[in-house]
Amino acid sequence: MRINLEDKIFETISLAAVELNIKAFVVGGFVRDSIIGRNSKDIDIVAVGSGIELARTVAKLLGIKKVAVFKTYGTAQINVGDVDIEFVGARKESYDRNSRKPIVENGSLSDDQLRRDFTINALAISLSKEDYGLVLDPFNGLSDIENRIIRTPLEPGITFSDDPLRMIRAIRFASQLGFEIYDETYKAISVNAERLKIVSSERIIDEFNKILLSPKPSVGIEMLEETGLLELFFPQLIHLKGVENVEGKMHKDNFAHTLQVVDQISLISFDLWLRWSALLHDIGKPATKHFNKENGWTFHGHEVVGAKMVEEIFRKLRLPLNEKLKYVQKMVNLHLRPIALVHEVVTDSAVRRLLFEAGENIEDLMQLAEADITSKNEKKVKLYLSNFKLVRKKLKEVEEKDRIRNMQPPVTGEEIMHIFNLPPCKIVGDLKNEIKDAILDGLVANEREAVLQYLFQIARDKGIEPVTI
Ligand code: CTP
Repeated sequence: MRINLEDKIFETISLAAVELNIKAFVVGGFVRDSIIGRNSKDIDIVAVGSGIELARTVAKLLGIKKVAVFKTYGTAQINVGDVDIEFVGARKESYDRNSRKPIVENGSLSDDQLRRDFTINALAISLSKEDYGLVLDPFNGLSDIENRIIRTPLEPGITFSDDPLRMIRAIRFASQLGFEIYDETYKAISVNAERLKIVSSERIIDEFNKILLSPKPSVGIEMLEETGLLELFFPQLIHLKGVENVEGKMHKDNFAHTLQVVDQISLISFDLWLRWSALLHDIGKPATKHFNKENGWTFHGHEVVGAKMVEEIFRKLRLPLNEKLKYVQKMVNLHLRPIALVHEVVTDSAVRRLLFEAGENIEDLMQLAEADITSKNEKKVKLYLSNFKLVRKKLKEVEEKDRIRNMQPPVTGEEIMHIFNLPPCKIVGDLKNEIKDAILDGLVANEREAVLQYLFQIARDKGIEPVTI
């Protein structure tokens, strides 16, 4: 097979290699993705010689000033527009068994291909004049792409032991590309799973996020569970598994339910953090599970307990502890609210409160709540969905009328202190809360004049008179 590499970048790398009298190849994900027909903005180049020298020469020919050199790794990187090109010398690697630190030696292209993770990632395209564009495929990666198979080039135990992260990568590629993992490769994951312990959380979560962003995340997450990998880095998800039956009363398997919710949200949103919210929405259920004769199984307060667990999970998995964390906590905490609305008469006041609490995330919350419907009872599903339509309609009406979504109270605490000559104290907070509640309950319009009148009235009831206006 020959690939048409007409881009100026590749032609320049080819010229630079001639200038240095070395051979250069495109390798890795870029080659795989070009054959599959996926877009890729990262290009990996292997030089049989110095990758750093090749990068410098390419930069000179393209008039690029900045070359990022990582001497310790023998790599260099340049950016051409939004394309990121990484250069490395061909390597023969053996690994220190107790860490991921490779002992690097210079090698041939074949050595380099042999040390790669999967046959589909071990393809190379020649950039030499004589066979420009030719695909070098020592492990039948092309036929594995055609047959949609993930397979290691070496005996899988060796490839996985060289870098145990590759076990998750196998599952990531299977989930992302819709490929099957070759039987022998898959079995070796279960056998070697424990070795994942030497891999850093940062590298694991990078791959896990890619699984979560794949078209149907349950495919990858189920494989992680089945091979024993999930338990090693994400035990809280495993605790969702299982069904208990007491006196003929069963609850649903919350692991299966969670995966279904994640798949359903993934049909309508590509947002990583909304997908995380779906993954964690019921995480508080095992800790709040109770059985009693009248009500059967209950999980009271699981949304509150779950929201509290999110921080610990984020911390452990090295996920960002910033507004993304706050967003997921908020979604977990509020995930039952839209469905609770559906069970009662949808009043303006209830809708206003929901709008106020969800704020700008109201649409995401509605999507999560809809994805949370996994009942097999079609009648029930229809009823829920049509009630959600009604909630959405009300949300729109109330928002247009009362602008609650980004509500700032029309009278501030500072003003209240000034009007009544009060120091900062509990009374000021109470007055503010009463105003907020009155707006949300529809007792007062969300306007300054109306709110001031209401403030004078509730203050008077407490025996507080204005000093100045
Ligand atoms: N590689 C490997 N073992 C790893 C990581 C990477 O052998 N643990 C090799 C593979 O040949 C891979 C290449 O390095 O194709 C580049 O790795 P990376 O950029 O992490 O992944 P890609 O394959 O490019 O895939 P993606 O762009 O989807 O992350």
